[in-house]
Amino acid sequence: MAMKIHPQEPARLELAQLPTPVVKLKQLADIAGVERVLMKRDDLTGLEISGNKVRKLEYMVAEALEQGADTLVTHGGFQSNHCRATAAIGARLGLRVRMVLRSDDPDPPWDGNLFLDRLFGAEVSYHAADVYRSQLDRLICEVMEQERAAGRRPYFFPVGASVPLGCWGYVRAVAELAEQVGSDQPLDIYCATSSAGTQVGLMLGRALLGCENWRILGVPVSDSVEYFHSELRKLERATVERFQLDLSPEETPIDLVEGFIGPGYAIPYPEAVEAIRLLGSSEGIVLDPSYTSKAMAGMLATVKRQPAERQPLFLHTGGSFGLFACRGLISGEG
Ligand SMILES: Cc1ncc(COP(=O)(O)O)c(C=O)c1O
Repeated sequence: MAMKIHPQEPARLELAQLPTPVVKLKQLADIAGVERVLMKRDDLTGLEISGNKVRKLEYMVAEALEQGADTLVTHGGFQSNHCRATAAIGARLGLRVRMVLRSDDPDPPWDGNLFLDRLFGAEVSYHAADVYRSQLDRLICEVMEQERAAGRRPYFFPVGASVPLGCWGYVRAVAELAEQVGSDQPLDIYCATSSAGTQVGLMLGRALLGCENWRILGVPVSDSVEYFHSELRKLERATVERFQLDLSPEETPIDLVEGFIGPGYAIPYPEAVEAIRLLGSSEGIVLDPSYTSKAMAGMLATVKRQPAERQPLFLHTGGSFGLFACRGLISGEG
């Protein structure tokens, strides 16, 4: 059993393969014209239970089991990485999984993450984007009620597990990374930001664990920089309050790299597709179409403008299965 990284750290169920490696991307650094680029391979937290969500789910699942849950209920887009990881965890732990998925297609192709959701035995329902957006609370309540009426004990995970409990996943990742690269060097950590729990966890970990020379640079992939300034602060404040952390959130810097959402969430654009091709052909690493490709495009455009003494590190948050659902993008047929 791993030691606590902070006295307030809540209970955790070990699900991820940790520590994930930190690797040098030599070819990419040469192409980008910088001395060194590091990558933390959180896409390797597992195969089925892979990516950044797993670190958050370790805490959420511990709480679910502690409360005697036998069913996990969650929601997201029909290619959601979070939902796929939840489905795999459910199968592994013998828990039932229900998911409310956003899809304008009432019968979306069984590919990528959705294929795996079905393989892992999750029960899914699809809802058009406008219904999903405007009636999500009702949809979730209905599923919870159906489960309770059937005598089961459902536990609900909000989108991306980006709630105060889930944020501990990336507080712990900071401790792990500090062991690997040291906490003193000027490190610029780039990550994709969407439901915000990854970036908030990193920001809190940086502050709590004394890594003040690090900068956490979130690349928004779903909403504006203004939106994320307020969401990140809100989630950070909620986490500080719930766990009574000795921190003043207003003093934690929020760094966001603007301009890499493209036409919208999960809609690819040429620089992001190019990032997928580049990492594949120069490093043999798979990026995903919605998150890591856009974050990588953001990092590559930014690193050249940074002082040479700052060491860039890309946090690969996973999502690789999503690429299979849009293979036409890369083959040129999409
Ligand atoms: C592969 C991948 N990377 C990054 C993110 C963004 O992380 P967060 O939702 O914690 O901001 C997500 C999920 O939304 C994801 O699935």
